[in-house]
Amino acid sequence: MHYSSFLGLAASIAGAQALSTGFNYGATQSDGSTPMEQSDYQSRFERAKSLQGTDGEFTSARLYTMIQSGTTDSPSSAFQAAIDTKTSLLLGIWCSGGQEVVTNELSALSAAIEQYGSEFTDLVVGISVGSEDLYRVSPTGIENDSGYGATPNELVSYIKQTRQAISGTSLSGASLGHVDTWTAWVNGSNSAVTDAVDWLGMDTYPYFENTEANSIDNGKELYWDAYDKTKGVGGGKEVWITETGWPVSGKVSGQAVASVSNAETYWQEVACAILGNYNVWWYTLEDSIPTTPNPSFGVIGSDLNSAPLYDLKCDKKNSTSTATSTGKHSSPTKSAGGHHTMGSGPYGSNGTMSGVAGHATGTATGLLTKATGGYGSNPTGAGASHAAAGPGGAPSGTASGGAPFASQTANAAVRAGSAMGAGVIAVVGLMAAL
Ligand SMILES: *[C@@H]1O[C@H](CO)[C@@H](O)[C@H](O)[C@H]1NC(C)=O
Ligand SMILES: *[C@@H]1O[C@H](CO)[C@@H](O)[C@H](O)[C@H]1NC(C)=O
Ligand SMILES: *[C@@H]1O[C@H](CO)[C@@H](O)[C@H](O)[C@H]1NC(C)=O
Ligand SMILES: *[C@@H]1O[C@H](CO)[C@@H](O)[C@H](O)[C@H]1NC(C)=O
Repeated sequence: MHYSSFLGLAASIAGAQALSTGFNYGATQSDGSTPMEQSDYQSRFERAKSLQGTDGEFTSARLYTMIQSGTTDSPSSAFQAAIDTKTSLLLGIWCSGGQEVVTNELSALSAAIEQYGSEFTDLVVGISVGSEDLYRVSPTGIENDSGYGATPNELVSYIKQTRQAISGTSLSGASLGHVDTWTAWVNGSNSAVTDAVDWLGMDTYPYFENTEANSIDNGKELYWDAYDKTKGVGGGKEVWITETGWPVSGKVSGQAVASVSNAETYWQEVACAILGNYNVWWYTLEDSIPTTPNPSFGVIGSDLNSAPLYDLKCDKKNSTSTATSTGKHSSPTKSAGGHHTMGSGPYGSNGTMSGVAGHATGTATGLLTKATGGYGSNPTGAGASHAAAGPGGAPSGTASGGAPFASQTANAAVRAGSAMGAGVIAVVGLMAAL
């Protein structure tokens, strides 16, 4: 597809490898309310490159949105920071806020192309149209209050709009993908999205698969199982590893224990096998500034300049292993998509973006609690429905109406049509940005 042009583009970046290695970066800090400013991005991009135990290979940043937090459609200040630090970019278009937000995303992109020119566009390794939107409209996502998602048809439309928006610009050859949980990719009802993209962005967290035997001993196997299944439905398209990681702290999830030691094992067994062999954006550099979520995935803690929490140096002897698993987990409906919904969101907490056409009515309260409250995971054990990973904090508000999302009690309320003040988009972003 556009892959060869992507390679050429990436290779032209001084010092960049053809394959990207990086972390995920939200548009706000971990409290969900403090926008990430240029200096915040800059310090993190620099820190990523200087992590002890690595060879400076963390030179890429995946963004969930191109809109600067707190603005309607201004380009993210991450762009200037990326230019200044020679950090490549996997751009993201936030698609779980409806057409209006996508339109604003594309405005921000056009403005950035105009403003920064090739300094910016040369850094772009791809554009993800959406992030976990299909997970959010799946039963697991709905039951776990994960927020407003997008349907396959909506995403296909947004992908088309993005191709149109970049045609005739210096990004016209950009490689377009979509990021979702592996469970969303293997759901045949989503195949229109698979057909529409150049690559599949896979998020997978064995820790959240709490209806599986998901202790750290099985972390590596569950990882490869997810990869194999996603690759298997991709029709030969590339799978980019857009999010994976193991928490350093937090609650138990099934058999998965969050600990520094287990995070180190997952790093050794998974990161060391995939970094440099795939496009990888690890979850994550830090998620504890200013507050530590539960669970927390940062490889560094609340002091950006402190040493990594565990040894990031790969044992080269066995770091090239590419284990694959077959059979054991071969039923696509078996493994849980139990996942996460919290984190620092792309839009900031106070809803400076305009509202989304309503899917529900109601009043959202306690939003920041939910946004920062962690994950919650309750195996339901009910056949194909899985472990649930929900944001902490009790859902509030009540959805009504026959819209497809009406059963998302808490977040449907968040999407109330007129909701400027309480920050419709803001909260959706907060809850869904991981
Ligand atoms: C499969 O995908 C469709 C379309 O996104 C969604 O409505 C459905 O709930 C999904 N099923 C499961 C089991 O996730
Ligand atoms: C999802 O999360 C919510 C809130 O944390 C919880 O009440 C619910 O039981 C979970 N759903 C499932 C299916 O476990
Ligand atoms: C290499 O093997 C050792 C011993 O089996 C193991 O502890 C370590 O995690 C492995 N490292 C990788 C990168 O697979
Ligand atoms: C967001 O709104 C809350 C409540 O209205 C306020 O306390 C907080 O300071 C605001 N945050 C920002 C970043 O504006």
